[in-house]
Amino acid sequence: MKKVLVIGSGGREHAIVYQLSRSPQVEQIFCAPGNAGIAQLAECVAIADTDVEQLLCFAIRRQVDLCIVGPEAALAAGVTDTFREAGIPVFGHTKAATQIESSKEFAKELMVRYNVPTAAYRSFADYNEAIAYVRARNTYPTVLKYDGLAAGKGVVIAQDEQEAQQALRDMLIGEAFGKGRVVIEDYLEGPEFSFMAFVNHHHVYPMPLSQDHKRVFDGDKGPNTGGMGAYTPLPFISAEEEQWALENILQRVADAMVEEGKPLTGVLYGGLMKTADGIKVIEFNARFGDPETEVVLPLLETDAYTVFHAIAIGEILDNIAWRKQATIGVVMASCGYPGAYTKGAEITDLENFDGLVLHMGTRIEGGKLVTNGGRVLMCIAHGDDIQQAQQKVYTELEKIHCTNLFYRRDIAHWAL
Ligand code: AMP
Ligand code: GLY
Repeated sequence: MKKVLVIGSGGREHAIVYQLSRSPQVEQIFCAPGNAGIAQLAECVAIADTDVEQLLCFAIRRQVDLCIVGPEAALAAGVTDTFREAGIPVFGHTKAATQIESSKEFAKELMVRYNVPTAAYRSFADYNEAIAYVRARNTYPTVLKYDGLAAGKGVVIAQDEQEAQQALRDMLIGEAFGKGRVVIEDYLEGPEFSFMAFVNHHHVYPMPLSQDHKRVFDGDKGPNTGGMGAYTPLPFISAEEEQWALENILQRVADAMVEEGKPLTGVLYGGLMKTADGIKVIEFNARFGDPETEVVLPLLETDAYTVFHAIAIGEILDNIAWRKQATIGVVMASCGYPGAYTKGAEITDLENFDGLVLHMGTRIEGGKLVTNGGRVLMCIAHGDDIQQAQQKVYTELEKIHCTNLFYRRDIAHWAL
């Protein structure tokens, strides 16, 4: 019987813990630091996800058989490298391989070198050179990306020179980001979708396609968020297009990373766009997407421990099986999010929701479940098709009560 340590505290980690809890091989799950929902399935340990030494110390003391790293910050802090040196199987990329997410320039150079389709770009460290380039190009909208982990705040789509100038100032001479570089790239148009895969070196095992909803309000209006809901499958991507993207994007990047001496050993997340000119890469992440993982991972049919462990140690799997079922997840977020919001509002009647509720930001206070973040819950329902799943999730959502939570009412509208 196996012991597993999961690192992280969001809905994505709850999905991982939930799936592990269904494995007959798994005896005990620890989660650092976890949340109130995860605590129902795992022993939560009060260690920060980037405190590499404490995490390792805990893993050794409790003799864990496998560690699974959720957040990019933990990967970028080198949790994988440290655990691997200590001989503990770990699912998640090394610090070097995490560059596919943490450095936009690295990712862009790699795509150009290995012929992976993406928007044309130039990269700058100097503000004057960057603004001169934007002026000379004089094409809007134009996309400006801060080169580094910026918690989803590093991309600006500038509609005119003034907006571009402001963004470049913030990114290259302001205090907000720290000194870095900026990638300036062509603006692409089309529906976006998420293609994730389990990857160990050259071996790529695709997950079902899904789509996130980044804007805070219905009709994709308002500011960007960490994601307000997700669903699978996607009717607007054909099986041929999916296969094409698997071969020409995910497999090519996995092979390229081996070639570069930075093999992948975790999840490769392709943020893709279906443009008039074919499928192109918007960005890569070195981890499970959030909230996409919450709708995708519950469909995993193969034993979760077997999958994570095989990817961690480089064992080859015949194939990974997925249930084919329409699934929708709606995020309940704190009023005010993604701007300022308060925490500590009581949530009741969660047990009445007929489906799966994964916690993104909750805690127990005085014996009560309360909100503890911007995104608080991800409520998930299945159906025979998207329409049925959508009806189900919105009927069930009415049953959960909290005066400080709101949600989008049109998740999956792209599919209907
Ligand atoms: P990212 O933080 O890289 O996920 O980017 C945030 C969002 O900016 C993406 O989800 C896209 O909607 C948008 N975006 C990024 N790059 C481009 C691009 N080259 N063209 C159009 N939109 C983009
Ligand atoms: N859902 C987008 C992301 O995880 O980055």
